[in-house]
Amino acid sequence: MSLPLWISVLSLTGFVVKSNGSKIIRVSEGSDAILPCSIKESVVQKLFDWRKDGEKKKEVFMYDAGLHYNNGLPGQDDQFRGRVSHFPDQLKFGNASIRINNTKITDSGGYTCHFPHINGLTFYMKLVVDPVFKDRSGEISGAVPKPSVMILDVTDSGVRLKCEVQGAFPKPELRWKDSDGNILDAEEAEISERDGRYHVTLQTTVTSTTTTSFQCVVQQKDLNHETASTITVSEKLFVNSSGKVCIEWLLIGIGLGVLPTAVLALLLAFKFIRIIRIRGTKKNKEDEPEPMMPLSSDDITV
Ligand SMILES: *[C@@H]1O[C@H](CO)[C@@H](O)[C@H](O)[C@H]1NC(C)=O
Repeated sequence: MSLPLWISVLSLTGFVVKSNGSKIIRVSEGSDAILPCSIKESVVQKLFDWRKDGEKKKEVFMYDAGLHYNNGLPGQDDQFRGRVSHFPDQLKFGNASIRINNTKITDSGGYTCHFPHINGLTFYMKLVVDPVFKDRSGEISGAVPKPSVMILDVTDSGVRLKCEVQGAFPKPELRWKDSDGNILDAEEAEISERDGRYHVTLQTTVTSTTTTSFQCVVQQKDLNHETASTITVSEKLFVNSSGKVCIEWLLIGIGLGVLPTAVLALLLAFKFIRIIRIRGTKKNKEDEPEPMMPLSSDDITV
């Protein structure tokens, strides 16, 4: 009984998407969401109960043979007070759907439509409320704000770039790319969550390549949504960082190769000097006896 019912619910509501085996209803923050639920018999005299999943189930809407949360039945969760209605003229067709007005990000989550007196028949679905961001002119700029990109600092190993996305939902994936579209190595993304929205930053260090412009791409696979921001790094920064690298390499070069060569050269130089010295002493020795010889010969002659 349950399967054809599911199929009928799916086919009658255009905005219901079947994904991973569960129904997903997707709306933009602030708009209304209709959560579908219907059976083949009239529900006018029936009891149906809508709840939201979570650590503690929340009472969203209850209808009990004409009594409901909007006409005196107590028990509705504060989160939904005054925002949920049913469709009275649809009850006789077995339609127990509800409408949530002015949806909030926190309305996102799993919902059940439960008929406790009809063998506990329960329908499951997921509501995803996409955040809406408005730019300065008040125009809606999409489900995710464009990431902000900035230069953090210039280090010996290159230019450090930071990409930041605030208040995104669902969780976005960030990537750094060069202008040829190659994905760049990046540090591990820092992710934090607040009120169901994600704050993500991703840092990378770029070195001088053929390009000086880099793109941070934000992707939300569930949403099939992608947005990006580009940053152009002045070549001067690369000159600075690679200049430092050059000096470093020079020092390492001296340490590894130039120094021994210099030592060898010095040793050779010392040898050469010694040879000169030895030659010098030899010369002196040769020179010295010469005046002695005539002297001695003089002596001899004298
Ligand atoms: C139930 O009623 C709502 C509101 O009129 C409508 O959008 C929805 O399609 C109906 N569902 C079925 C299964 O008839």
